[in-house]
Amino acid sequence: MSESPFQLVLRQCLLPGGSTTVDIAIAGGDIVAIEEHLNQSGQQELPIQGRLTSPPLVESHVHLDSVLTVGQPRWNTSGTLFEGIDIWRDRKATLTYADVQARAMQALQLQAQQGVLWVRTHVDVSEPSLVALQALLDLRQSVRDWITLQVVAFPQDGIYGSPGNVNLLEEALKLGADAVGGIPHYEFTREDGVRSVETIFHLAQTYDRLIDIHCDEIDDDHSRFLEVVAACALRSGLGKRVTASHTTAFAGYNNAYAFKLMGLLERAQINFVANPLINITLQGRTDSYPKRRGITRVKELWQRGLNVSLGHDCIQDPWYSLGTGNMLTVAAMAIHGCHMTGQSEIDACYTMVTENGARTLNLGDQYGIAVGKPANLIVFDAKSPYDALRRTATVTHVISRGKLLVQTQPAQTSWLGLPSLDSSRMESSLIPVTEA
Ligand code: FE2
Repeated sequence: MSESPFQLVLRQCLLPGGSTTVDIAIAGGDIVAIEEHLNQSGQQELPIQGRLTSPPLVESHVHLDSVLTVGQPRWNTSGTLFEGIDIWRDRKATLTYADVQARAMQALQLQAQQGVLWVRTHVDVSEPSLVALQALLDLRQSVRDWITLQVVAFPQDGIYGSPGNVNLLEEALKLGADAVGGIPHYEFTREDGVRSVETIFHLAQTYDRLIDIHCDEIDDDHSRFLEVVAACALRSGLGKRVTASHTTAFAGYNNAYAFKLMGLLERAQINFVANPLINITLQGRTDSYPKRRGITRVKELWQRGLNVSLGHDCIQDPWYSLGTGNMLTVAAMAIHGCHMTGQSEIDACYTMVTENGARTLNLGDQYGIAVGKPANLIVFDAKSPYDALRRTATVTHVISRGKLLVQTQPAQTSWLGLPSLDSSRMESSLIPVTEA
């Protein structure tokens, strides 16, 4: 008998939004068949048994150079963005190539085992040695067989905050960063902020790179660089290659201005990344009561059909002492913090950490579950995106580039030592639940 042409076959997979299961066959790193009942066996078979089989999670915004540094050299006692920047300034003076790579690799493994196979990381390029950038560019290369890393050159201290910063940003692009970043609200003046956005667009066009700007990450309702980013995107035609991250000030704009801005955003067709865990933590720190939630207008952007994705932003660093890299916790915070608790809204938040993230990262045709696409997919111990989000379900299988990369057993609980319960009474009291 000849060997099966299929290296791997997944049996009885339930795709997001699907009502019946399918078998998925993989060969040569690609998905080669999706059928209700595939007759041929694979060289390896995985019984999925009706569990949710999804395109991988996408991390749209994280800082891998600062991950896992919490408390170094001190904790952030005010909890503000700006104290975090001060602490990071001290910590980054001690960065080494090995230090950055070791922490970033640990974070990538945490992410991958929880179903993330694409990661966009910002890396601070306002320190002269560019050691963190070089460490992450090299890591991008060494992990590319199992996870894709996109590197954004991010001038944390501002492009015009120091005379050499604009040259460092350009050097980062020459070294191979995938995208140009910025932080216009942190520049010394409004005028410097506008100039920084114009410089970012000029560099992106010169070096043919994507754009991802930390934009208006502040509670100041007069911080209005989003309109500058959108206008530059519209005039340059770069639209979908441009991302505005955070835009937390947008939550505080008066509605007359916000509605006018929304029209411009619809024309510009840029991407948005909200970072709900961090935004709800860092913003509102100068408010008394009522305290703002600090998350951008996720619901309204989504309702207008604009592309919103979500990021974890920080994992145990000067800005956020918690975090595991799990994108379901990010989506769960969006559900809570953005009033997205309706059925379609919960599904939309799942899309924000999958398909929408793929759009933000400009992944194009390589993302998704379809015949002919690269075989990247994950299996949840869950029946639907809603079920996965509600229970923060375990990712049981991660398949990357056609190979089984990680397998995880869900936790099991046994009740011991309790008096026996009247099971017939319990069953009659159960409320039937309809799954999404
Ligand atoms: Fe960030």
